[in-house]
This record gives sequence, C-alpha cells and structure tokens, in this order.
Amino acid sequence: MSTESKPLVFVTGAAGFLGSQIVHQLLEAGYAVRGAARGRKVAMLKKAFEKYPQFETAEITDIATADYSAAFEGVGAVIHAAAPLPGRADSETALNGAIEGSLHILREAEKAGIKKFIATGSMVTFPENAYGPNDWVPVTKEQAVEGNAFVLYIAEKKFGEQAVLDFADKHPEMDITIFCPPWIFGPLVPGFEHIVPEPDFAALSTDGFVYQLLRPDNANYHYSPGVLDVRDVARIHIAGLTPLTRDHPKRVPIVSPYPADFRDAIKYISDARPELRERLADPSKVPVWPSYKLDVDLAPVEKAFGISLGSYKTWKETILDTIDRFIELESHWKSKGLKVEVPAAPPM
Ligand SMILES: NC(=O)c1ccc[n+]([C@@H]2O[C@H](COP(=O)([O-])OP(=O)(O)OC[C@H]3O[C@@H](n4cnc5c(N)ncnc54)[C@H](OP(=O)(O)O)[C@@H]3O)[C@@H](O)[C@H]2O)c1
Repeated sequence: MSTESKPLVFVTGAAGFLGSQIVHQLLEAGYAVRGAARGRKVAMLKKAFEKYPQFETAEITDIATADYSAAFEGVGAVIHAAAPLPGRADSETALNGAIEGSLHILREAEKAGIKKFIATGSMVTFPENAYGPNDWVPVTKEQAVEGNAFVLYIAEKKFGEQAVLDFADKHPEMDITIFCPPWIFGPLVPGFEHIVPEPDFAALSTDGFVYQLLRPDNANYHYSPGVLDVRDVARIHIAGLTPLTRDHPKRVPIVSPYPADFRDAIKYISDARPELRERLADPSKVPVWPSYKLDVDLAPVEKAFGISLGSYKTWKETILDTIDRFIELESHWKSKGLKVEVPAAPPM
C-alpha cells in the first residue's frame, strides 16, 4: 500500500492498550508511524511491529516535559493516546502534569509545523446523560486533590481536555480533535506478545476486567455503563486525521450503540467456548444497573468522520474476540514455561 500523501503519524502511548491498536491500524492503512514509548517498552514496541518497514520508535521518557525537536522531525500528525498515570506523583503534580503536559506537546507540535493533532479524552469528562460540547462533569481541582485516584483521573482528563480546547481556539491553523471514549475493551493487538512477554496485569489496562471473566470467584467489574471496542476507538482516531467536514466538532463523545452487560458476556463465552465453562465468573456477582448503554448521539461521528452506525463491533464480537486473544496469550506464556494465573485484584 502506498504511503504517498499520507503523513508520518507520531503516536504517544504506543505500547499501551489503545496506542498499540492505533499503531497497528495506521500501519495496516499504509501510514508511516513513529511510536513513542519509554524504558524497556521501546525495544518491545519495536519488536511488536517489526514486520512493518514503515514503523519506527522514539524514546520519550516523559510526554509532559520531553524535547520533541528530533522526535517530531518529518511528522505530519500527532495522535496523543498516552495518559499520565494517577498515583505516581502527588495529586497537585499529577493534575498540573495533565494540563501542562497537554499544552507542552501541543506547543511542540505547533513549533514543528504539525497541523493535525488528535487527543484521547474520556467520557468521564461529561456529566451523566449530557454529552454536548459544553457539558463538563462538575469536579473541581480542589476535589481532585482531596479525592481518590479515580476522582483525580476524572479531573486530570477534564482539565487536560479544556487546556487542549483552549489551545485549539487560539490556533485555528491547527486541526485539533479530542475523542472521548467510555470504558475500552477488546482484543489485544497482534504482536502484543512482545509488549507482555510475561504475565503483566498492569499492561492490560481496562481489558483486565474482561480477562477476569476467566476467574470463577471474580467480583471485579468496571464502575459505570458505556463501553467501546478498542478497534472502534482506534479507527475513529484515525478517521480524525481525514475529517469529512471542516467545521467538525472538536470534542467528540464516542460510545458503542449496543448494550454491554457482563452477564451477557459470560453467557456468550459459555455458549461459544464450552471448554472455558469451568473457568467462568459467576454471573450473579455482576453489578445490576438500570441500563447497560449510554444515550450518546452518534450522528456527528458519522457526519464528520464517516463512522456509520452499523459499523461498530457488537458486544458479542468484543467479548469473544477478546477472550480468544487472551487464550492465545496464555498459550504463548505457557509455551515459555511461565506460570499463568488470572489475578484476583481489580485492574484499577
Ligand atoms: N482504557 C480505557 O477504558 C480508557 C477509557 C477512556 C479513555 N482512555 C484514555 O485512553 C488513553 C490510553 O489508555 P490505555 O487504556 O491504552 O492505557 P495504557 O495501556 O496504560 O496506555 C497508556 C500509555 O501511556 C504511557 N504513559 C503514561 N504516562 C506517560 C508519561 N508521562 N510519559 C510517557 N508515556 C506515558 C504509558 O506508558 P508506560 O507503559 O511506560 O507506563 C502507556 O503505554 C489514555 O489517554 C486514557 O486516559 C482509556
């Protein structure tokens, strides 16, 4: 496939659950990609995508403070999927890192003449049942500083998104979009074996909740309705590089149109993969909610980015593909003589 007229795309968080999926889909679509990771993950990332000649890595130790002058050379677009980890610094530093970190990478991109910038936001920045461009969850910086890690995460994403929008207003010459997914689940990308050469629950991100369906005493579930398959999140980010309308929305909530109940998930696995039945979680421990989907208008996503309503992965596809991929990964670990056990503690 030709890479002509397609920009070199710089992806942050490229060794992450979502970032690796974005890298994979970009490469499959013929884009040249420079993926950013840190520490030992740089070599793992290189190995994961070694079959693609148009893939290269960049070591970025901290996205919030890095010097991007060399890393942005030749880059035409940035997809910023890395998130500063909550709990690694005191809350004030973490909050400031999310805001200043977003502004830092935007300023560096502007300096390098990059015109396209896609950021991963989060559905948690919208209040329940209000997904308009000016709807914001009413969390304050003070509550974030005093609250638990999840309150801090919500605030980090909210004030980070607001900083990006403010920058976008001041820089109309740049095309900036924030996609806001809810909980992301879905199969780990081909090649992820190299990013998790041994069992590492933290590397699975929120997908750990799906992996824990393979633990009979599991009672850990995500905290609120609204999911989107990681493959859909990735393709929507990529569609953001070539919007169909010039005046597209800048902050875009994205969600699966299908209800996603983990009781159904357990049933899908039990019916389609009977060999896994004795490993399955007890459906009576799945939380009961009034609804298992979010009422988000997806028409703007279709109009501006060409994502049709019928093209989203169903909940059944998400669950069975994810479980099949975990079984593949387990076989890979076992073939290396490693001990494999689904952890008991929640992924977050
Ligand atoms: N997963 C979800 O359900 C969900 C839902 C809504 C939004 N999101 C957003 O989606 C994005 C990706 O999330 P994910 O689930 O893919 O998480 P993930 O697997 O933890 O990926 C995040 C990546 O960002 C990197 N990173 C974090 N802080 C960094 C820093 N200061 N400097 C350099 N790299 C840094 C991490 O590197 P290390 O591996 O080296 O730590 C990791 O590879 C995030 O923006 C997140 O807020 C996720």
